[in-house]
Amino acid sequence: MADYDSGDLEAEVLARNFDHHSPEYAAKSWEINKALRNKCPVAHSEKHGGFWVATTHADVTRIAMDDDTFSSDHDPGGERRGPGFTGILFPEKGPFRQIPIEMDPPESTSYKRLIMHEFTPGAVSKLRPLVTSFVNACLDRVIESGEMDIIRDLASPVPALIAASFLGLPIADWRKYAAPTHMMIYAVVGTPEWQKGYEGIVWINGELQRLIEERRRNPKDDVISRLCNAEIDGVPVPDANLVNMFSLIIQGGFDTTGALIAGAMSWLSDHPEERQKLIEDRSLLRNAGEEFLRYITPTQLLSRTVTREVEVNGEALKPGDHILVSWASANQDESVYECPEQVRFDRKKNNHYAFGVGHHTCMGAAIVRMQWPIVMGAILDRIPDFKVDHERTVPYTSKGVVNGYISMRATFTPGKKVGGLEELEDIIGVSYNGA
Ligand code: HEM
Repeated sequence: MADYDSGDLEAEVLARNFDHHSPEYAAKSWEINKALRNKCPVAHSEKHGGFWVATTHADVTRIAMDDDTFSSDHDPGGERRGPGFTGILFPEKGPFRQIPIEMDPPESTSYKRLIMHEFTPGAVSKLRPLVTSFVNACLDRVIESGEMDIIRDLASPVPALIAASFLGLPIADWRKYAAPTHMMIYAVVGTPEWQKGYEGIVWINGELQRLIEERRRNPKDDVISRLCNAEIDGVPVPDANLVNMFSLIIQGGFDTTGALIAGAMSWLSDHPEERQKLIEDRSLLRNAGEEFLRYITPTQLLSRTVTREVEVNGEALKPGDHILVSWASANQDESVYECPEQVRFDRKKNNHYAFGVGHHTCMGAAIVRMQWPIVMGAILDRIPDFKVDHERTVPYTSKGVVNGYISMRATFTPGKKVGGLEELEDIIGVSYNGA
């Protein structure tokens, strides 16, 4: 199935072979998504034991807005809901239940109420000075050399340091949190990399438990301290659920924001005239960020479990079926976005689905929108002529969850350090040898 434009390609063959974790999807997601939208918008694949995928904007909207029929619940032991409730990652990545994203209302609503005020634009704006220091320290480490690995030196550390500061994790440990999170996202279940990532997540969860207990004794001004004694309807939230809430903030925020920064730099490197527009007029940055979110769609697809017999766009789904919602394909739907394959900084009504839609819409969106202009502004100020070396870029082997990269080398005209950030530079430079 090499030629996705070919009218000869049977819809059934296309659907049957669809695999969001395949190298083919990683290399040709736009062509595959377009072919699916046009030929079999709700497709049934035989891969991974069988699943559906919804690709049009209309079907993705309908599914994401109906939590009763399309459940996000994750019940690893199958004790609460019976077997098959595998949560939002398909196939299931491990026995970790992320909270509140892998709950349905009203259970999720109670958990969202505990934490949503921490994510408002006003609440997250106090992180601005930290973002500035983090991005400048990242650039100070490399600016005199004229070369960097965008992932290792910038797109991985900045979002991780921000999420760590937001939660109240020791920032010196940022790589111990970031490395396994990346591995779990892109590694295929059962591979040595996945195993290493899995062990790292177990370590992270143990560390979160330790920090919860520590903050109960010595509270600080951070999210863990404010939530460690949380109650729902007068009942203390179990520690395991607090761990799963904090773990989601790590896993939800690290790779996705990094993928946005790296993906945007890759595109800007190839489009110097467009980059020049941003250099000259920073007021364009905000819309450019929204357009890169749509175009890159850092979180490509997530899963739902069907709870009752239901028809979607002519296809009959049964209870226990899994259906992926393709945020990526919805964001590429030509019936909604004119010339979706073009990045247009002046795109009007850009209500993209990069942050999902409905009850589980991304809580971290304000953090991303706060970070983006600061990070990209510093890049455009300090290394405006960066050039990405595509030959040496290593994308994630699977882009079935996050449209990210393992490595992306770039060169630029060397510049001067801002200085005074040496301590942070050391923290950013720490290496990772497994948890
Ligand atoms: C570019 C960066 C990001 C992208 C593309 C992204 C994408 C998404 C998407 C698509 C969802 C919806 C999931 C669903 O419907 O099943 C979501 C939910 C969520 N995201 Fe993000 N996210 C990003 C950054 C962040 C950050 C920085 C944080 C936290 C620091 C975060 C925390 C969350 C949480 C807690 C949820 C669950 C919300 C709920 O269940 O109500 N995300 N994100």
